[in-house]
This record gives sequence, structure tokens and C-alpha cells, in this order.
Amino acid sequence: MKVLVIGGGAREHALCRSLSLDPDVTELHCAPGNAGIAQVARLHPVDQLDGHAVADLASSLGVDLVVVGPEAPLVAGVADAVRARAIPVFGPSGEAAQLEGSKAFAKDVMAAAGVPTARSYVCTTAEEAAAALDAFGAPYVVKDDGLAAGKGVVVTDDREAALAHAASCERVVIEEFLDGPEVSLFAITDGTTVVPLQPAQDFKRAYDGDEGPNTGGMGAYSPLPWADPKLVEETLEAVLQPTVDELHRRGTPFSGLLYAGLAITSRGVRVIEFNARFGDPETQVVLGRLKTPLAGVLYAAATGRLGELAPLRWSDGAAVTVVIAAEGYPAAPRSGDPIEGLAEAEAEDGSTYVLHAGTRLGAAGEVLSAGGRVLSVTGVGQDIAEARDRAYDAVGRIALAGSHHRSDIALKAAGPDRS
Ligand code: AMP
Ligand code: GLY
Repeated sequence: MKVLVIGGGAREHALCRSLSLDPDVTELHCAPGNAGIAQVARLHPVDQLDGHAVADLASSLGVDLVVVGPEAPLVAGVADAVRARAIPVFGPSGEAAQLEGSKAFAKDVMAAAGVPTARSYVCTTAEEAAAALDAFGAPYVVKDDGLAAGKGVVVTDDREAALAHAASCERVVIEEFLDGPEVSLFAITDGTTVVPLQPAQDFKRAYDGDEGPNTGGMGAYSPLPWADPKLVEETLEAVLQPTVDELHRRGTPFSGLLYAGLAITSRGVRVIEFNARFGDPETQVVLGRLKTPLAGVLYAAATGRLGELAPLRWSDGAAVTVVIAAEGYPAAPRSGDPIEGLAEAEAEDGSTYVLHAGTRLGAAGEVLSAGGRVLSVTGVGQDIAEARDRAYDAVGRIALAGSHHRSDIALKAAGPDRS
């Protein structure tokens, strides 16, 4: 099978790494890719938001499957453009991707499908926002309605800050605060059949102890030793399947990866958000544990045959990933610095590996930082403690001037109370 992956972050590197290890994959292409992906796939310069350009590339390469990684091309309808050429594509249509592209749309789908989520108001004026904030009380949760790369949400006890964020957005969703640990659960779907993956936890704040601003994600681990063993099955029944069924009913079936961001509250599981693509950095740990070759799974979803797929096989072990971020991330990341120690950080037996997020090759072939989140350093092991030790050992071998990373990724989950 010839596969083309669209995107160029650590998620796409994780996808490309798994695809490159799949014996069914004979050719692997990525556009635009990054310096790490270049080691496993042929890169093509393309504007990933240009559906026609992506479809042209897929046709000229004669690929059997296109996998669209990031949300921006999905919301822009890139999967539609590829599908219009009768090339199988893993990724939802632009309309179905509104599940991520508009928080108000997602709330409407959830209400129609009876999916449990935070109560909310959609507000466009300062008066509406103030009334909604007062209806729920502190802590206040204010979300930009549109795509904001994980940075459009403000959670604060400060009413003035909440109002200011609302004023800075055209349309906001203001909702009740959900208390409880967060879980990311991904499912692969062809629009009808839904196959959940293993749950993971993401660390969204920039600094240790969940301090600092929200980021795209500073690390992740899987499995979740503290989670109820019935979590996946219950979320499939209460959240994932009803959402997929509702979009099918509306005539805009969702095929691709449905990402449910969940809060495990005292009153049960609640959806915090949906995304229309693999999450980053959770993908790095979820795919690190998937034993079933990936290409066939994505192809089955792209061709409406997921119901025929054998149950997925998973490693019993664990995976932990730690993000190395550039100096100044998330406010004003610095780029263009050389990265040392990449080869030393990778174990030959595959127990540690480095996934590139924001990197590019310099003129002399050296790897340079080229983004806020630069690397996602992953360790796998028999349990979380082992995977974590390996990931941090690998992080310690890498040098990038001014970079920072959290030192507490999966720390509690690796400890005796495994919380
Ligand atoms: P989102 O972009 O919707 O995932 O929001 C980003 C982060 O804000 C989430 O991962 C949560 O940590 C936090 N958040 C969002 N909505 C809520 C909520 N209703 N209650 C508590 N925290 C929330
Ligand atoms: N891990 C958060 C996201 O991918 O949106």
C-alpha cells in the first residue's frame, strides 16, 4: 500500500513511524513533513490547506490512502477534495470536522445525541457573556468558538479576565466548570462502526504542577492505571457511538479519528471537547502501544469497512512521551537553534524514540528547531515507571539551547497510588 500523510508535527511523525513499521506499506510519503519524518518518508512541499494541491499530489504519486493529520486542513475541506478524486482518505469532511471547528456546533450535536457535557451558553455580546458567567459562577470557563490551536480556552477565577477573553473573541461558549481528571479517548470510525483506542492523559499546562499557560500539550502517557476498566466501553456507548450516529443522521457522516476530551467528574463522564483528528501528544503514546499494523486500520476506516476489522491488539506495557519546547514557548517561541544528541536518545531496541514536532533541516543537513513544541521524546516499557524512566533518560541526552520541558509527566501515575 502506498500512503501519503498530510501534516508535519509530532503526531504525523508518530503516524509515519507506525506506518513505516507496517509490512503492508510499500511507499510512504508526507507533505510537508519535518526533519524527523524525512527519515521514514519521502517529503513533498505542498500547501496543506490547499485541497486541490493535496489531491493533485496524491494522484500523481498514485497513493492508495491519504491520511490528513491536523485540524486546519480538515476544517478547510482537504479530505473532501481528495475523496472527490475517488482516493481513499482517512479524515472527516469539512462539514463533519466542524465538530472541532466550532464549539457551538459540537454542543448542538451533543445535545441532539444526548451526550453528557458541561451546560453552556453561546454568547456574542458583553452583556450575554456577563450573564452567562454569573449564571455558572467561578471558576469561569470561556472558549473561543473557532479553532485556536488549544489556546482559545480560559479557565479562571477572575471575572474581569473571563470578560476580557470573551471581549477578545467574536463568539464564545461559556460553560460550567467540570471538576475531575481529564482523559483523552480516541476512536477510529468509518461513519458507522466505531472502534475505540486506548485512553491516554495529556498535560496541557506549560510548567510542572499544572502551572502556567495552556499549551498544545507538554506530555502524555497511556494506559491510565487509575481509570475504571469500564471507561472505554461506557464512553463508546454514551459518547462516541451516539455522536457518530447523530452526524450520520444529519447526512454529514464523520469518518476518521474522533477524539473525545473527557472529564471524569463525580457525576460521571462529561465531554470537554471533541477534536476531529488524532491528538498531540497523546497519539505518540497510544500508537506506541498499538500492535495491529496501522495502515490496514486506517484503510478500513477510509473505505467503510471497519466492521470487518479484527479486534485491535495492544501491548500490555506503557508509553510515556515528554515534549521538549523551545525557549519562550508558548508565548513567543524562539527557533533556528541546533539540536544535539538526537541519535543518542534513541534506543536500538525501540524502547525510546524521538518524534519531531517543530524541526527542519539546516543547509548542512543539521537539525534545527522550527516551532514551539520541538520534540516529543517517547519511552515504552513494561509499566509506566519504566517507560517514564526511559523517556526522561532520553530527554537528558538531548541538547537544545534555552529549551524547557516538564519534569512531572506521568509522575503520579508511576507512583504507588497511581493516580
Ligand atoms: P479545550 O480546548 O476545550 O480542550 O479546553 C482546553 C482545556 O481547558 C481543557 O483541557 C481543560 O483543562 C480546560 N477546560 C475546558 N473546558 C472546561 C470545563 N468545562 N471545566 C473545566 N476545565 C475545562
Ligand atoms: N492534546 C490536545 C490536542 O491534541 O488538542
